[in-house]
Formats: sequence, C-alpha cells, structure tokens
Amino acid sequence: MVRHFLRDDDLTPAEQAEVLDLAAELKRDRFARRPLEGPRSVAVLFDKPSTRTRVSFAVGIAELGGHALIMDAGASQLGRGETIADTARVLERQVSAIVWRTSGQERIEEMADGTAVPVVNALTDRFHPCQVLADLQTIKEAKGALAGLTLAYFGDGANNMAHSYLLGGATAGMHVRIAAPEQLPPDPAVVERAAEIAAATGGSVTVTADAKRAAAGADVLATDTWVSMGQEGKDTSAYEPYAVDEALLAQAAPDARVLHCLPAYRGKEISAAVLDGPQSVVWDEAENRLHAQKALLTWLLEH
Ligand code: CP
Ligand code: NVA
Repeated sequence: MVRHFLRDDDLTPAEQAEVLDLAAELKRDRFARRPLEGPRSVAVLFDKPSTRTRVSFAVGIAELGGHALIMDAGASQLGRGETIADTARVLERQVSAIVWRTSGQERIEEMADGTAVPVVNALTDRFHPCQVLADLQTIKEAKGALAGLTLAYFGDGANNMAHSYLLGGATAGMHVRIAAPEQLPPDPAVVERAAEIAAATGGSVTVTADAKRAAAGADVLATDTWVSMGQEGKDTSAYEPYAVDEALLAQAAPDARVLHCLPAYRGKEISAAVLDGPQSVVWDEAENRLHAQKALLTWLLEH
C-alpha cells in the first residue's frame, strides 16, 4: 500500500521519529541518500504562491538525485477543469511522487485516492504538515528532545498551522496549547483527534483564549500570519491580543525558542524585536524545510 502524507497524523509517533532522525542525518550529510537517482521525477504543483516550499522541494529533490517538475497548477489543465482524478492517473505514469499546495483538503485526498505514487501535502487550508515536520526538527535541535515540551501557538487558531501543530505536536508527545479568540477556535474535530493522539503519547492539548496563560512557562512560542492565503481583506482585530511580542515572550520559559513558518508580518502577529531577536529560530526553521522534506520523501519512497 502506497503511503501518503496528507496530514500530520499520517505518520505514527514511531514513524515521525524515524523521519526526524533521517532529517538530522541529511542535515549532517546532504548527499547521504539518493532515492531518486536516475533521475526519477517528482511533480510539485502549486495552486497558491510559495517561496520556501517551492525552493526547498526543488533543491531537495535535486539533492536526492531526482528531477523536480515544478508547475503552477493554474497553468496546467487542472486550471481549466480537468479533473483531479484524471490528472492523478496521468501523473502516476511518469513521476515517482506528487507534491501539491492547494486549497481544500478534499482536493489532495482526491489526488491521493486516484494515484499509486506517494502524495505529499505542501499546504492546504486545513494542514501544513511539511512545515510542522521542519518545526519539530528545529525544536529538537534547540532542546535535544520533543516529548514533554510545551509548544504554545498564538493567533489564528483555525488555520493550517494551528491544526498541524495540534496533530504533529501531539504525535511527538508535546503539550500543545492554542491561544486564539474564543469565537475563532481550531476545528473541534482536529482538537479531538489531537487529544486522542496525545493520550497515547503522553502529550496534551489545551485551547484557551488567554494568551498570557498559554505562554506561561512554555518552551516554544509559535505564531503565523493572521491572514492566510485566500483570506485577503479579513478583519484581524480579534487577533491583536495574541501578538507574540516582548511582553508575551517574558511569560515563557527563560530559554524559550520562537517559531514562525514565514512569511512574517512584523508589527502584526509578531514584533520585529522577537522575530529578529536571540530566541528566534525562524531561519533554522526555514532551512529545515529542506532536510525534513528530503527525509520525508526518502521515507515515503522506501515504504
Ligand atoms: N512557510 C511556507 O510554507 O512558506 P512559503 O509559503 O513561502 O512556501
Ligand atoms: N497560514 C499561512 C501559512 C503560509 C505558509 C497560509 O495558509 O497562508
């Protein structure tokens, strides 16, 4: 059975740990694994803009010995109404994996259902699991381990990053706190699934409207833009108490680290002093997209 990575809990805790160990190995020796030697090709499709995801998959696939076929999906026949299922059947005859950034989670599920090659979620409206793998690698580098640490996320609790921190963090055995306006919470189905995973891994899940409480003693503070792609023009006033600034950081553990998947909007969800300050690990986080995704692709191609 082909394995896909459509959401963070598509990897069990043991599998996630394996991928993160391989990511660390590939960071030490970038050319240690060549599963795409040939070169075999990977289709990387974008329905939305991207800098980090586009670059890290292109570079990573080349470093694995393969060829990245990068396409803006709008410029393909998908943009003119060819079905996802037909596209999946065409791609699987020629490529070894499909990576897709799109809107609805059901779209990437349909792609995965229609193809015999691994499909990787490069961001949907609901999840951003490749990003959270890189984030976990970054936390592990800074702290030595993941299980038992507290990760607190602030701002848009209903977006892809919040949902992926819930599932991915719980899978790693972390205590995940989501601080978001009461009227804009994470999807209850995702919270419930994360709590179920956490019960097995020794982690926990908390959703609160109290930013200060969420930050108290946390090992990692994380945030994301208040306006995700496709939400332009959204009213963000309810998020203002959740900005990650010096005052909020002062509530966290003294050696807390700060994550932001980027792109960042200084003065909105994060202050410039925090983003550019000594506790920020956002540039390591951006680099780790490369290593984590190479590890993920290697792992998927071997399973
Ligand atoms: N963090 C992230 O996914 O960045 P891009 O949108 O630039 O790919
Ligand atoms: N939540 C953001 C993440 C960008 C990488 C978005 O979906 O636009």
